[in-house]
Formats: sequence, structure tokens, C-alpha cells
Amino acid sequence: LFGQVEAFAGDPILSLNDSFKADPRDRKVNLSIGVYTDEHGRIPVLGSVRAAYERIGFAERPYLPMEGHALYRDGVQKLVFGASHPALSDKRIATIQTIGGTGAVGIAADFLAKHTPGRTVLVSDPTWENHHGLFQRAGFKTATYPYWDRASRSVDFDGMVKALDAAEAGSIVVLQPVCHNPTGVDLDEAQQAAVTDLLVAKGHIVVFDMAYQGFGTSLEADAAFVRRYAARASCLVANSFSKNFSLYGERCGGLSVVCRDRDEAERVLGQLKLAVRRSYSSPPMTGGLLVGTVLGNDDLRAQWTREVETMRNRMDAMRKLLAEEIRKLSNEVDIGFLLNQRGMFSFTGLTEQQVTALRERDGVYLVGSGRMCVAGLNEANVPTVAKSFVDVSQG
Ligand code: LMR
Repeated sequence: LFGQVEAFAGDPILSLNDSFKADPRDRKVNLSIGVYTDEHGRIPVLGSVRAAYERIGFAERPYLPMEGHALYRDGVQKLVFGASHPALSDKRIATIQTIGGTGAVGIAADFLAKHTPGRTVLVSDPTWENHHGLFQRAGFKTATYPYWDRASRSVDFDGMVKALDAAEAGSIVVLQPVCHNPTGVDLDEAQQAAVTDLLVAKGHIVVFDMAYQGFGTSLEADAAFVRRYAARASCLVANSFSKNFSLYGERCGGLSVVCRDRDEAERVLGQLKLAVRRSYSSPPMTGGLLVGTVLGNDDLRAQWTREVETMRNRMDAMRKLLAEEIRKLSNEVDIGFLLNQRGMFSFTGLTEQQVTALRERDGVYLVGSGRMCVAGLNEANVPTVAKSFVDVSQG
């Protein structure tokens, strides 16, 4: 019956993580998947989340509504847009709890496919590979806009602007507002303002994918691009709590659609609920309660904010340490880029062949594109990584 089914080649990130787990070497280092580990190499259980878990206990588990838990949705809105955002006070944001950030982008794609069909979806080159897949699954054609300038290891801003300007008016544009995956380079404030003017003038539909809020500068500063954009125009915002709550397996995310007015937001919310009902009916409860409880309580939210800061500072410190260790070994390897990039990822510029050599020879796992997850570095593994990096760079 299924003889014609083709083999799945595997996901470039998730398959690599499986290979890492199967690697018998003791000194292997996982810098592939976007997962934060602490100085002991463990995925942390945040104190704020543990406290929330103790509060909620385990009681009856009715279905949540299609749109998710009210406390959670309220928390998403205040965290993403800021409690005093005009779109919030105007009640013109439709927000649902989603199954992770991936689920948020997936529902956004389904919603747009139904209500604004036939448009081209533009994603950055390079981007998180699943962006293409999620929009294609919903029936869209995807194309790219330039983002990465290999020579300067920074944003190819001119290329980006030209492509967005040349795209047909009303195209769908996916933007990562902070801690860009995979490059680690973001638009500065002036560039954000210029792109906003262009996107609004062209009538493009913007889908922000914000998976790393709090890992760049702060929870507030990282959301500034989205907040300013939402004050100007309608847009969609997918957010994830996988990384900043260290709740990867609980699949906690949100999708918010900023609308023109309250009436539109109510209708959009109805359609989001329908999209959820047709896909998985309603989101799961435990993760939703954990996040909702932390965000809805002043003390727990303050504790969580400090914990996000601790993770961010450790990632920044590891970038510095790796750069120092590499400099100690060689003055010839250019590693200034490590300190200019931010968030979990760093685009190293290593070729696929060099990445393979790192993995096969030294057990250091990066994604084939040359993306390194700096959140997997710690004091114990930095010397190994630095040496591998220098060896492979010097051929
Ligand atoms: C990543 O890019 O490594 C993470 O976002 C995990 C994933 O789902 O790919």
C-alpha cells in the first residue's frame, strides 16, 4: 500500500542532534541545535518555572479553549507588545496560545493561505530552514531576500531593501526581529525604521518570528522593532517560549495578529480558532499553565526576567571566552564576528567541508551551514572547540 512512499532525508538540525546523541566519544560538543545548556552542559529548569509548577500542581485536565489559556494569552500580549501598547488598549490584537513557535508560524501560514492566498512569501537568505517548509506546506511559493553579507559578516542591508522594494506589493515578508537564526546579526534601529517605512509603503504583510526574546539585549529592548511596527501597521507576530523559558518539550508559543480595529481583531481571532480546531483542536495545558503563571505573577515574572538575563550573560561570556581562546592559539583566524553577533547563534563562515571535519575529527557538532549554537559552549568545552576551530581554519 505504501510502497511508493519516499524516504525522509531527515531534518538538517534535528537529525544532527540525533547523530550527536549516538556519538560514543566522551569529549563531543553539541553546538548544533538551538538549545541553551548551562555551565554544566544541562538544560536548566528555571526557578521561576519550578515555583509555578509547585503552585499549579496536577489537577483535572479539561480541554483548553481553541485559543488557549486566558492567563497565557494575556501574558503573551504584555510581553510581546508591552503593557501600555496602543494596539493593546485598543483591543485590536488577536492572540492565541500555540504549539511552540513552529506551531505559531504554521497557524500563521494556514491563516494567510486562507485569507490572503496566492502571494509570494519572502524569507531571509539564509533563514531557519523550516520557514520555507511551513509556508510551502500551506500552499505558498517561497522566495528569498538577501540578508547575509559574507564578506563583512553583517547584514546585507542594501540587498535586503532592494529585494523588498522590487517584490510585488502585498507580498508576505517573514522577518526575525532579534537574534537572527542562523546568522546572529540583526538590523540596527535606523535600519529597522527604514525597513518599516518600506514595508508599510509597499503594503507587504509582515510575519515577525520572534523566538529569542530576551537573548539579545533585554526582554524589552528585543521587542522594540515589533512594538514600533505594530504601532504603525497590521502584522503577525509568532513568539516562542522554548528558549527563554527553557521549556523546549512543553511546546509553548504564541501567535498575535495586530489588526486595524477591535471588530477586525474579533473576526481574526475567530478564524485563528478555526485554524487551530482543524489542525489540533486546542493547545496543551501544563506548559500553558506554567508560562501563564509566571507571566501573570509580579514576583515570578521578576525572577524569570533575572533568569533570562543570566542565560543571556552566560552566552555573551562564552562568545568572549571562545574568541580569547582562539586568539591565544592564533592571530591569523579572524574571529571578531563572534563578538558582533548575538543571541544563541553565530554564523562562523566555515564551509560544509570544514564543519564535517570538525564533527568527524573532533566531535564538535555545528550545522552544515556553518551555524554554531554558542549556548552549547561552557568553560570545559571551549578549549576543545577553539583548537578545532583553529585547526580547521588553517587547513
Ligand atoms: C534551531 O534552529 O536549532 C531551533 O530553533 C530548533 C529547531 O526547531 O530547529
